[in-house]
This record gives sequence, C-alpha cells and structure tokens, in this order.
Amino acid sequence: MRKIIIAGNWKLNKTSLEAIDLVNGFKRDFVDITEVDIVVCPPFTALAEVHEVLNESNIGLGAQDVYWEDSGAFTGEVSAPMLKDIGVQYVIIGHSERRQFFGETNQTVNKKIKAALKSGLIPIACVGELLQEREANKTFVVIGKQLEESFAELTKEEMAKIIIAYEPVWAIGTGKTATPAQAQEVHKFIRDFLVKLHGKELAARVRIQYGGSVKPDNIAELVSQGDIDGALVGGASLQHESFVKIVKNSCLNSAKK
Ligand code: PGA
Repeated sequence: MRKIIIAGNWKLNKTSLEAIDLVNGFKRDFVDITEVDIVVCPPFTALAEVHEVLNESNIGLGAQDVYWEDSGAFTGEVSAPMLKDIGVQYVIIGHSERRQFFGETNQTVNKKIKAALKSGLIPIACVGELLQEREANKTFVVIGKQLEESFAELTKEEMAKIIIAYEPVWAIGTGKTATPAQAQEVHKFIRDFLVKLHGKELAARVRIQYGGSVKPDNIAELVSQGDIDGALVGGASLQHESFVKIVKNSCLNSAKK
C-alpha cells in the first residue's frame, strides 16, 4: 500500500512571519486529514520556526537542499545532522532548479541522498527531462541515467526509504502540466526501473510524486493514475487556498494505491 504524499516546495519565498502565517492556516484546515501525507518545504531560514508551529501536527517538514558533509569548511552549506537537529524530516534533493542554476549533478545528488539517509532524513529525489530532450525522444534515456547515477550503490533497504519526484522541467512553473497519461508513462518507467534494480516488492513500496504546474483542478486526475503517488507542488503551495484544495482533491483518489 502506498499512501499519497503531497509536498509543497516553497522555493525562495516567504519570510519567517509569512511562513508561520501560512502553516497556521494549513494546520487548521488539515487537522482531520489522515488519508494522505502532507509536507511543507520552507526556505532554511523559516524551518526552525515552522517546526515550532507544526509540532505534533499531521504536517511533515522538509528542507529544499542539503550538503553531503556533516560539518567543516564549506561556507554557506547546511548539513543533514543540522536539519535533523531542528526537526526536519524530509529533504528535496536534485531539484531541476538546483541542477540548472547551481551545478547539481547526478553524482552530487547521489552523495546528498546518502548523507540524508545516514542522518535519518527522507530524501525526495527529483528527476526530469528538458523540453528539447522530450522532443528528441530522449526522455527515457535521460530519466534512466538520472535514476541509475543518483541511486548508485544504494541498498534495497535504503531505496525503500526514498521518495522519487518526477518533474518534467518543461512543466515547472510554466502552467504546462504533463497530461496524466504522459506523466503515468514516465512513472511506470521509473517503477519498472525499480523492479529491475531491487524486485517487485520494493518497487511496489516506493512512492513516486509528479511535479510541474500541479493545481487544484488537475491533482485528482494525476493521482488517479496507477503509478502517481502524489505531487511536489511549487507555485500553488504558496497560497493557502490552492494548497488546501490540492490536498483535499488528492484525497478523492487516495484509496486505490
Ligand atoms: P510548480 O513547481 O508547481 O510551480 O510548477 C514544481 C516544482 O518545482 O517542484
């Protein structure tokens, strides 16, 4: 059984006060929701305060990146033990914006996943193809390589702890969502990859989120697909009303996984 998981990736948005305001509203509106897992990923500067607000609630807390060393002379970086220390449970790793603007590679993603797991954080590992790669029919080659290299040397037990997010880069922040069928096709490819890697039982356990222009009116159909187990939501997670609707609409199809 896979429980749907909806995570909000706030990116470079929200001061601490704005973050607290937003999560107070979520806490109130999500109090009765048990059908799906809910996570918010504020910027580093708001994590500790958001943790205080979320406390024993049913909303999980995630960071948007992590460095692979625990400590040392790495100016500007934040480590997995530091995140763990302030109550963070999840961490987004290898988001396409980090790959595009900050030199993230499958190799650094691999190191970060290992570091996160070592500290007991749950990685949300992102993969996704560029528009020109899709148009050149290279989607599966690109995703296959990202999966192979990002998950290199991970044991079956470690893989079982990971969440994968498939985010076609051309759909992020563009208002262009992949159709449910397009997304399902890649999700199925990812699950088949997991079957080959560690067998059917493991593949059936790993949750694969879709990301890219997820909105209240497309979430239900996306999660109705057999291999889509939730969403990583950017823009629409920054406003109370749209994120609440996304979470509630995802519940409509939560029973079937
Ligand atoms: P978007 O971003 O929902 O704004 O397209 C998704 C993401 O980058 O995770």
